[in-house]
Amino acid sequence: SLAHVRAWMGQCPRCPLHQGRNKIVFGAGPEDARVMFIGEGPGQQEDQQGLPFVGPAGQLLDAMLAAVGLERRQVYITNIVKCRPPNNRDPQPGEVVACRPFLEAQVRLIAPAAICALGRPAAQALLASEAPIGRLRGRWAEALGVPVLPTYHPAYLLRSPEAKAMAYADLKALVRGPES
Ligand code: URA
Repeated sequence: SLAHVRAWMGQCPRCPLHQGRNKIVFGAGPEDARVMFIGEGPGQQEDQQGLPFVGPAGQLLDAMLAAVGLERRQVYITNIVKCRPPNNRDPQPGEVVACRPFLEAQVRLIAPAAICALGRPAAQALLASEAPIGRLRGRWAEALGVPVLPTYHPAYLLRSPEAKAMAYADLKALVRGPES
């Protein structure tokens, strides 16, 4: 179960991010969620609360979910690293690798019908790609046997609202599913 995975993680010391964290942000949502969102890493408010996407980016994510008829309580939300990178820098490759077993266990247990990768670091890590997010977004790919649709990160959309229309189109495609 997800509780077992969380217990296995414990007070994880497997990468340097543990030194600066307040709380591990494991993930939130039902174990039988059909859609999973995977972001980059906890920000300040997430690190304080121990919950994913509760700060400004999370509020925009909620609005985007609502716009395509999804509610947060239906979906599972987590990040490629579970501890906050200092000053919200991108997670480093070694940090992503150290955290990967937990992400993989979450994906295998939840076995969602689709994953939405939020932003470049999540999309590149899941797809083992170095392509820019502008190339990856809106195109179905696959990771761990699950269809993956990358889109822009909501924190990027807060800075670049002109990209919101593309993200909404991606979320509509996410809800329609990989076969459509
Ligand atoms: N940004 C992320 O990538 N993840 C969070 O949980 C919050 C902000």
